[in-house]
Amino acid sequence: MTNLQEQFQLGNTKIPAVGFGTYLIADDDAARVVAEAIVNGYRHIDTAAGYHNEAGVGAGIADGIARAGITRDEVFVTTKLWPGNAAWGDPPKGYDETRAAFEASRKALGLDVIDLYLIHAPSGADKRVEQWRALCDLKAEGCVRAIGVSNYTESHIGEIRDAGLPMPEANQIELHPWSQKPALVGFLRAEGILPIAYSSLVPLSTWRAEPGQSSAKTEEMKADSQNAESPFREMAARYQVSEAQLLLRWGVQNGFPVLPKSMNADRMRANLDLFGFEISSEDMTVLATLDRGDGVAWATGDPREMG
Ligand SMILES: NC(=O)c1ccc[n+]([C@@H]2O[C@H](COP(=O)([O-])OP(=O)(O)OC[C@H]3O[C@@H](n4cnc5c(N)ncnc54)[C@H](OP(=O)(O)O)[C@@H]3O)[C@@H](O)[C@H]2O)c1
Repeated sequence: MTNLQEQFQLGNTKIPAVGFGTYLIADDDAARVVAEAIVNGYRHIDTAAGYHNEAGVGAGIADGIARAGITRDEVFVTTKLWPGNAAWGDPPKGYDETRAAFEASRKALGLDVIDLYLIHAPSGADKRVEQWRALCDLKAEGCVRAIGVSNYTESHIGEIRDAGLPMPEANQIELHPWSQKPALVGFLRAEGILPIAYSSLVPLSTWRAEPGQSSAKTEEMKADSQNAESPFREMAARYQVSEAQLLLRWGVQNGFPVLPKSMNADRMRANLDLFGFEISSEDMTVLATLDRGDGVAWATGDPREMG
């Protein structure tokens, strides 16, 4: 049965199981692509200050809502604080700068309330706890429905607990069969923090294949992506779905909301269609053996190449 509206619990709210990612969608294209995603059935849009497309994404959300004949509260919107990174000559943001950055994101998106606001990365160094305190205050004031972090390890989250602050409701991390992070996911589950999966499609040969869309994918991974005998290809053929659908279904079947990005209308629609099949427990066991460790979506440490 196809259920485009399947949702997971996130704190006191719900988050759609499938969202639309917007990293590497230029601001000029974002309005058109995001509106198309909403018309095609997406009900969660993921952006970030660091993607430099919040204005286009916001215009696309408004247009998509109008064209789909739905209301604002039917679309879940995530954006992220760029926390700064001293190593890139970008000083970490303190409390006031975090609040100012939130206001800038909210204005660019043209929204009063953000459904989920995340700290994009733990690069805020000694300002991490201040940044988190600002997010807690934004939630208490009703400016955001849920707050979380992204790319945080157990020790980064431990700083929040040690400061006596409310724990994050989500941690958005790279998760796919080649990067399963079992220890971190186990910790998040034990703490009631929802893992949200990004870059689910890394094992595909088409993942960020255009010039300038670099990643830390190794030559061996690239060769494996093209292997005609890849386990993903074999399983996808058996379930009569695409490899992309198999990888995304692996995420939602593990309880992770997923965020596929596509500029291509057919792929965009197919990536949302994950509820007409189920990966068997035998195949989930095989997929669990394919972990290769760390992710590859953050390429070289260059801020222009961050997701
Ligand atoms: N918090 C973070 O640090 C972080 C980091 C990375 C990503 N994210 C978020 O997660 C989202 C998703 O991650 P991502 O953009 O890295 O990668 P992704 O969604 O896993 O994959 C996107 C890539 O796969 C291709 N693709 C999409 N659907 C396909 C299909 N059905 N068949 C074949 N190829 C397909 C896309 O090309 P086409 O566009 O040409 O279809 C694009 O090159 C991002 O957009 C962003 O919102 C967050």
